Amino acid sequence: MRIVNLVFDSLLFECTILIMPEMSLPELLVSRRTIHQFRTDHPPEELIEQALELARWVPNHKKTEPWRFYWLGAEARQAVVDLNCEMLVETKGAKRAEEKRKSWEEKPGWIVVTAPYNEDPVRQQEDYASCCCAIHNFALFLWSHEIGVKWTSGPVTRDPQLLKIIGAELEREYCVGLLWYGYPEMIPQQNRQPLSDVLIRVP
Ligand SMILES: Cc1cc2nc3c(=O)[nH]c(=O)nc-3n(C[C@H](O)[C@H](O)[C@H](O)COP(=O)(O)O)c2cc1C
Repeated sequence: MRIVNLVFDSLLFECTILIMPEMSLPELLVSRRTIHQFRTDHPPEELIEQALELARWVPNHKKTEPWRFYWLGAEARQAVVDLNCEMLVETKGAKRAEEKRKSWEEKPGWIVVTAPYNEDPVRQQEDYASCCCAIHNFALFLWSHEIGVKWTSGPVTRDPQLLKIIGAELEREYCVGLLWYGYPEMIPQQNRQPLSDVLIRVP
């Protein structure tokens, strides 16, 4: 493991990054997976804080730094689990809701990322894009420490009650994603279509 000290003096940002030398950047990008099943042990909080610090070093037009990260404690997590169960009872029935309760209660780490509304739809889209980039920085850094992330945009993330639970400002912001993190119990396989299917060379 290599230790790199980064100091961005103009921004009062100082951190020590542990880099896994065995993973090159292409390996990191290709090997990262959405993790659906986590072990129950919790990753160190300092690492999560570092991932959030690094998440913010993404492009953001007009330097809006639009993201907010709500790092959920036990009380808020339980309230979100309850909310999700209430919603699921309505749509999928009590049995399915209880199955979800169990799996959600086992998720080790919870972060909600929000972006601001903007009366200018272009600016709002740009801010959303930056928040997505930030989420990916967060996920990639944690992956370099063998910690997985799942980004969910399920119905609970669109319910205003979620924002109330986390203390977000309903008029100001909306949820971009609910992120779960933790050590993977299982790493799924994925593939991608050939690049040639989507690459259009424009003369
Ligand atoms: C905006 C967004 C929302 C997502 N929401 C969900 C979700 O609600 N449920 C889910 O299982 N996966 C969700 N995912 C994860 C995708 O299913 C996953 O990225 C995809 O299957 C590709 O797998 P990979 O991330 O391992 O490459 C979401 C991903 C993104 C970018």
